[in-house]
Amino acid sequence: MPKQMNVLEFQQKCDRGEKLTVVTAYDYSMALAVDAAGVDAILVGDSLSMTMLGRPNTLSASMDEMIHHTKAVAKGVKQALLIGDMPFLSYQLGLEETLDNAGAFLAEAGAQAVKLEWFPNAPEVTSFLVENGIPVMGHVGFTPQHVNQMGGYHQQGKEKASASRLLQQAKALERAGAFAVVLELIPSDIARKITQSLKIPTIGIGAGPHCDGQVQVLHDMLGLLPDFHPKHAKAYLQLHEAIKNTVRQYVSEVRTGKFPPAH
Ligand code: KIV
Repeated sequence: MPKQMNVLEFQQKCDRGEKLTVVTAYDYSMALAVDAAGVDAILVGDSLSMTMLGRPNTLSASMDEMIHHTKAVAKGVKQALLIGDMPFLSYQLGLEETLDNAGAFLAEAGAQAVKLEWFPNAPEVTSFLVENGIPVMGHVGFTPQHVNQMGGYHQQGKEKASASRLLQQAKALERAGAFAVVLELIPSDIARKITQSLKIPTIGIGAGPHCDGQVQVLHDMLGLLPDFHPKHAKAYLQLHEAIKNTVRQYVSEVRTGKFPPAH
């Protein structure tokens, strides 16, 4: 039985200069494949609101949905660190409620850590969760739950003042005890500066090559969504086309009597 990654080994890998790999997964079958591929961590992202549930953004992912999908992923994970993404308003309404919600990811769903997006109380919330035994991954830069305030899916930290704010936020999360921080949609040189300034790993998405690791949304990597191709993602497969062609072949074989064979 392979040993499951934990947050201490995640840090040690980073200290050895090994790049960290993180991928999202949202169900059992995908978790089996992603885990077997040898990623360091699997994130059950609230991006499931878009990728799995067809919504326009991540804001309406609920705790029930996140727990449901995290449980399914946990069944398929043997070796990756499993991180559950705290949905919009599940960590902003008071420390006790936040602890209940974060605790559910670990106690009920089988995750080893949670991720939460930057907001002004993120350091306080992070240190409270960490003190209570819940490892926390931070998230700065473009934070999708703030899409309405940020006016769309735009790169952050382009001006000197906002770049310096991002650095301060990442440092505050490190001081609060976060075990890693996601840097989303920020210029490569700012990501490099933040990475050089922190001891904890930085995990980039649309933040260039200088982060300690990378995270990708599985559906983007597999080409599963025909009309959604973010610039920062690499589609290694065109799975939407492959699925469509496979099912087309099945439809045709049933209609022409080629499948199933007589027995
Ligand atoms: O929800 C998600 O998938 C994420 C990643 C993009 C980091 O937050």
